[in-house]
Amino acid sequence: MTDLTTTIAGVRFPTCFMNAAGALCVTREELMALGRSRSGAIVTKSMTVEPRQGNPEPRYHGFAGGSINSMGLPNLGYRAYAEMIPDLKQFGKPVIASVAGLREEDFPVIATVINAAGPDLIEVNLSCPNIPGKPQIGYDPDASERIIKLVRPLITVPMGLKLPPYFDPAHQEAMQKVIARQGIDFLNLINSVGNALVVDPDRETVVIKPKGGFGGLGGAIIKPVALANVRAFYKLFEGRLPIIGTGGIVNGVDAFEHILCGASAVQIGTVLVEEGLEVFARLETELSAILARKGYSSIVDCRGAVREL
Ligand code: SIN
Repeated sequence: MTDLTTTIAGVRFPTCFMNAAGALCVTREELMALGRSRSGAIVTKSMTVEPRQGNPEPRYHGFAGGSINSMGLPNLGYRAYAEMIPDLKQFGKPVIASVAGLREEDFPVIATVINAAGPDLIEVNLSCPNIPGKPQIGYDPDASERIIKLVRPLITVPMGLKLPPYFDPAHQEAMQKVIARQGIDFLNLINSVGNALVVDPDRETVVIKPKGGFGGLGGAIIKPVALANVRAFYKLFEGRLPIIGTGGIVNGVDAFEHILCGASAVQIGTVLVEEGLEVFARLETELSAILARKGYSSIVDCRGAVREL
């Protein structure tokens, strides 16, 4: 029997698969359903200070090979998630609170209250590409460091960062220095590939309404970008900083590739939205099968082991 359990910053997960923030995790009902599912954790939608309806619809579009979204952080506001966290913990799996913000000063407000609510881990989202007029914080190392400095002293559970995809080693190295200086406990790589454009040639339109059709790409199409960022940060931290790999996981082989590149766990977004909660059982079966076929008894046995030529 293959062992799909994993540990991130000292927190044990019953399986390495979990939802990505944003996928079926906005409402209490969705979060409780994740609790009852085979997801290895319950990850909340990235929360802001005030509840948000999000961007106008249509704001999600699935296509062969992936998805594009510009949800605009629809969420119930941090107070609602803080109240819910004790109930979410009844399921005996880690609860990860995802914290966002529209202004730098929002982050410590949310972090204080959400930390007191007792999630098992907190993920600070520095990478939402979908708020009109707000750049992705993770592309600005100085702004990122200012926010991390504000929240780091307030958070007593393991604290991670959800980062955008980087496309140049210089940008990864600049962020690595910030992360190392500030004592981050884990990374989540990557958020969607922001500000992409999908066109419907029949209707001669873009496919989502917000921001003139520009939005974040997810799903199979972004896997190589996700793998590259997992691998790059795994190497920059010499395998010592746990990484959750997110991006392009549609089947067990995709998860295996993330683990080979250095991921300790994986999150799923597009495939969860498209297939529903049953996808977790399928992914477990598929990953177990490939590990068994290759003679690995656990994910630890192959984590980071991809060979260079
Ligand atoms: C959104 O709500 O627009 C997506 C969130 C994110 O990409 O961080």
